[in-house]
Amino acid sequence: MLAPLTNQQSHENGQLSNEELKWLTMRAEGGFGLVMTCASHVQEVGKGFSGQLGIFSDNLNEGHIKLTTKIKEQGSLAVIQLHHAGMRTPPELINEQPVCPSDNEETNARGLTLKEVKQLRDDFIAAAIRLKKCGYNGVEVHGAHGYILTQFLSLETNKRTDNYGGHFKQVSTSI
Ligand SMILES: Cc1cc2nc3c(=O)[nH]c(=O)nc-3n(C[C@H](O)[C@H](O)[C@H](O)COP(=O)(O)O)c2cc1C
Repeated sequence: MLAPLTNQQSHENGQLSNEELKWLTMRAEGGFGLVMTCASHVQEVGKGFSGQLGIFSDNLNEGHIKLTTKIKEQGSLAVIQLHHAGMRTPPELINEQPVCPSDNEETNARGLTLKEVKQLRDDFIAAAIRLKKCGYNGVEVHGAHGYILTQFLSLETNKRTDNYGGHFKQVSTSI
């Protein structure tokens, strides 16, 4: 299995480049039974790297379909990793203030409104539906390395007082 490896080879608008297509296809040709893409952002505001492959819009589907087709032609499984960098988004990549669970002085990221948190949840789901349509065999959610999901899990970065913050025991089921 090829671990997810951010290679920064895609176009700045999130579209798959021929270089990234070639690199990942070569891994399948080389015998990996499962090829996972790099971390792929589910919202433009969650872009973590220059040259990152995106999965935030149907406009990007063509590249993903090409990629899954090529990987599967080699008998390998195509899997994508879903990602949102949150406060770790470099502001110069998105030309706006990065977002995270709560205002964060250290990174100058702003806390999401409740409406935006629900949109974030919906955009992870929309990306999952999109990737299935694009032919991926599976998906991994990037829940590590201090990106937005771990920012929500940490009491240091998540100071929310609504249903998306607080101690685990206080979380109501009515989100
Ligand atoms: C250049 C590079 C890019 C990486 N990109 C990602 C990534 O996009 N998503 C992820 O979850 N891990 C990423 N990782 C972590 C690797 O998937 C892997 O977990 C880590 O390198 C440990 O495995 P290893 O001991 O075989 O190197 C990256 C690692 C490297 C070296």
